[in-house]
Amino acid sequence: MPPPGYPNGVPCGGERSLKITVFGATGGTGEHLVRQACESGHHVIAVVRGPGRMRYRHPNRSVVRADVMDPEAISDAVTGADAVLNAIGTRKVRVPTSAQSDSTESIVKAMSGHGARRLLVVSSSGMVSEGDGPFTRIVVKPILKRVLRHVFADARRMEELVRGSGLDWTIVRAPRLTDGPRTGGYRMAVERNVRGGFWVSRADVGDCVLRCLDDPATIRMRAREVEQARRAWITLHRRWHEQRKTET
Ligand SMILES: NC(=O)c1ccc[n+]([C@@H]2O[C@H](COP(=O)([O-])OP(=O)(O)OC[C@H]3O[C@@H](n4cnc5c(N)ncnc54)[C@H](OP(=O)(O)O)[C@@H]3O)[C@@H](O)[C@H]2O)c1
Repeated sequence: MPPPGYPNGVPCGGERSLKITVFGATGGTGEHLVRQACESGHHVIAVVRGPGRMRYRHPNRSVVRADVMDPEAISDAVTGADAVLNAIGTRKVRVPTSAQSDSTESIVKAMSGHGARRLLVVSSSGMVSEGDGPFTRIVVKPILKRVLRHVFADARRMEELVRGSGLDWTIVRAPRLTDGPRTGGYRMAVERNVRGGFWVSRADVGDCVLRCLDDPATIRMRAREVEQARRAWITLHRRWHEQRKTET
């Protein structure tokens, strides 16, 4: 039985140091995940295929070189993890890819076999239209869906795998990613896109993932999308809580 305050066995509330395993840590978003988790006092295992590309250093960070596509090779890295984060994605968006889905399939297998339960993955809001305004839905999205069809097919398959995993999962869907700063000022929506949300910084996606990690209300429920906010954080924060209240 999980102790009180630890629904599904996942520690929450940000009170203690967690063991977090990050895949895709040499990527833009992955590096922010590692950095922000370390700076929050968590212990991070970054699983990478090229340790030389891992620029960020911190006493709480360790690096494991492993083939993510092999569940056996990553089993030690996920064993005992309080949370596993996957930010793997392809850089070649015009050709067929299975980087997201194959890596997630392997991670799910490794987690299921070794008792790890909490999984958070980064996905794309571009592949769905719910919540978008008419211009985005009718003009922008059809073009995007055509240009990025391989990436979106991969992301869709990844989401199916995550939903069917039986783990305590959260999918964070992001629009176009930028290398802007961490602001904490972004809007989130549940099971639909944020209207007018066209971009978000990788640093804010990292912030959002770590916030979801600490929030048991996000477990196994719905896909979320984040976007860069142009308004004051406090308003958005309040709005987010109001939205959650009306949902429960
Ligand atoms: N770019 C966007 O505008 C956008 C928008 C919405 C969602 N997303 C999603 O957000 C996530 C993060 O995107 P990002 O742009 O921050 O990532 P990124 O900088 O492109 O980094 C991708 C990461 O995936 C790793 N990777 C790729 N193929 C791999 C494989 N076969 N085996 C092991 N590792 C592999 C890379 O490792 P190496 O360093 O070893 O290559 C790197 O760490 C991705 O899932 C992406 O699909 C991106």
